[in-house]
Amino acid sequence: MKKIVIYPGSFDPLTNGHLDIIERSAKIFDEIIIAVVKKNSKKKFLFSAIERKKLIEKSVVNLGNIKVKIFTGLLIDFAIKQDSYTIIRGLRVLSDFEYEFRMALMNRKLNDNVSTIFMMPNEKYTHIGSSLIKEVGMLDGKIDDYIPIQILSEVKDKINDEKNK
Ligand code: COA
Repeated sequence: MKKIVIYPGSFDPLTNGHLDIIERSAKIFDEIIIAVVKKNSKKKFLFSAIERKKLIEKSVVNLGNIKVKIFTGLLIDFAIKQDSYTIIRGLRVLSDFEYEFRMALMNRKLNDNVSTIFMMPNEKYTHIGSSLIKEVGMLDGKIDDYIPIQILSEVKDKINDEKNK
């Protein structure tokens, strides 16, 4: 049976830390579905869901076994619809743990057939997150090391547009 894994997130925007997890997963699983959450009541996104999806697609163009899909509703329901019983999440620092632990257990409670597995990104990326990168970019700091090269200029343009609003 084909091993399909779901890698969910906001990806506002995708960073090299996310890409690192995707590349590691691509070596283990037959197919990765990157699940871009459309809305999150706790976050105000800079990029629309379609923009976030396109940025990911551009960044993974050299990896063969990846699909990118936008989802709404419960992640667990989306996973089942995709015939996937595995969710992958990145763990960067200890402070990620509690949030991830609660989310994994809630997802397990919602459907015990789906398991969450965790992976550590390269240590070069353990201190970053999309918000931090946007903040540094808005304040004219260098973000080049943290955003995939294929999408860097687009991300910078969007940050500049936002800054000049
Ligand atoms: N490298 C760099 N940064 C990373 C990273 C990595 N490997 N992994 C995560 N991050 C960062 C993200 O950039 C993000 O930063 P930000 O908060 O500054 O934007 C942060 O870590 C966490 O974001 P993300 O991984 O995108 O998770 P999220 O909390 O925004 O969304 C979902 C998580 C989409 C999985 C969750 O909200 C969800 O499942 N939603 C659907 C509804 C649902 O089922 N709810 C019940 C869940 S139990």
